[in-house]
Amino acid sequence: LEVLSVTSEFFPLIKTGGLADVAGALPAALAAEGVTVTTLLPGYPAVMKGLQDAEPAHDIADLFGGTARLWRGRCGQAKLIVIEAAHLFDRPGNPYLDSSGRDWPDNPQRFAALAHTAAAIGRGLMPGYQPDILHGHDWQAGLMPAYLHFSGDAADAGTTRPPSVMTVHNLAFQGLCDAGLLGALRLPTQAYSIHGVEYFGRISFLKAGLRLANNITTVSPTYAREICTPEDGMGLDGLLRSRGTALSGILNGIDTDVWNPATDAALPQRFAQATLSQRASNKAALCARFGLEPDRLLFGVVSRLTAQKGLDLLPESLPTLRALGAAIVILGAGAPELERAYAQAARPGEMGLFIGYDEALAHLIYAGADALLIPSRFEPCGLTQLCAMRYGCLPVVTRVGGLADTVIDANEAALSAGVATGFQMEHADSRSLDLALRRVAAVWGDRPAWDAMQRNALAAEVGWTRSAARYADLYRGLVV
Ligand code: ADP
Ligand code: GLC
Repeated sequence: LEVLSVTSEFFPLIKTGGLADVAGALPAALAAEGVTVTTLLPGYPAVMKGLQDAEPAHDIADLFGGTARLWRGRCGQAKLIVIEAAHLFDRPGNPYLDSSGRDWPDNPQRFAALAHTAAAIGRGLMPGYQPDILHGHDWQAGLMPAYLHFSGDAADAGTTRPPSVMTVHNLAFQGLCDAGLLGALRLPTQAYSIHGVEYFGRISFLKAGLRLANNITTVSPTYAREICTPEDGMGLDGLLRSRGTALSGILNGIDTDVWNPATDAALPQRFAQATLSQRASNKAALCARFGLEPDRLLFGVVSRLTAQKGLDLLPESLPTLRALGAAIVILGAGAPELERAYAQAARPGEMGLFIGYDEALAHLIYAGADALLIPSRFEPCGLTQLCAMRYGCLPVVTRVGGLADTVIDANEAALSAGVATGFQMEHADSRSLDLALRRVAAVWGDRPAWDAMQRNALAAEVGWTRSAARYADLYRGLVV
């Protein structure tokens, strides 16, 4: 079975969040299920640079305002098709934002080009390559099912129309643009309807995908339920409910080779279950880097700093942290007002702060902190709690989305059954966070109990095996 995965991010080439990790890890996991995945990516500078064994595969005379060349190649074991189109993608840095942090004004055209190329490949554009399934990720790929559905110019290359799957990694990003762009996006007039790309008087890339894809998945079973409610459906709950059983939740995993404390080159001290006591050296190194005392309870944060992640709550809880004698290391970047709030709240000896994106430091925090704070308001799946557990750092999470599905709360029943892997908080508010911080401190003070939880966390299934089988079943069900 041949699947074309259509995504704007792919670890290790280009990443702003978990989408990259998922798109980067799924192909190898699916290979074990007999599914061959090729990934279609925009040719950002980092992607062009990282593409190995590149061979030109097809030229496009006019891809939304300029020429384009499709390259076939690979990144490690992963097969890639990359769209080289200088007018759209030859821009350094963040794939969506200019250097002042604003969306590129032509983002609609840029990602329409990704989706349009995907649909064209599905319809036979590339001699010698015919995918059986087109699998699009998030709004950036959202127009793909629309280009398949409504006969458009270049997408008319052939008569085949492979079934499409859309995966929602985050319903908050909907890819909205002005209805006046319909023509510029090469969509026919009839596409602009409630059954197509129209969404409250505008065009929504994500809505188009959710309306027209043969199947929809999201990244955890709980989020799949949540997004069907008016509270969490972000305006799309009605549409999602109407899709019935075509919508399901398949839990994300992490790449257990990339995230492996026994082999991780980013760690001063590698460790495994049997050598868990050596983990302390990583905590010592992390504390030394930020001028913190290693014998205190140490919390960590590795996150985009946005309202979604609930990290605006943290400054208010710093007095509680102080009262508990705990310290915290924060690695994050995002909303400027949050970055400022943290910079102001930072106190030497209590809070270590690194504003920015740093893959190696993320690994060190998972390997060195005692507990990781993830007080998200909503969380489609979340990967940092999985990374944390894999490294013996206990996650403290709100009971939402994939966080609810992956962390076993240290309640009395779970503690006495010996299965707890972390701490769940009821709501994303200061009261719940304070309560959680106190609960963590209480268990941390009981060494055997903490040790047992750490071992549960290390042993938790966080890889892709089970979920890859579910994607493979889904694909097979669509091609019969
Ligand atoms: P989201 O995709 O919503 O940001 P996830 O938990 O799914 O959240 O994935 C986040 C990914 O990005 C994880 O791999 C995490 O380690 C990484 N990450 C987030 N912020 C940073 C940062 N500031 N530096 C390094 N890695 C980060
Ligand atoms: C999104 C979500 C996150 C999820 C990731 C990968 O960025 O915010 O919860 O883990 O996608 O699916």
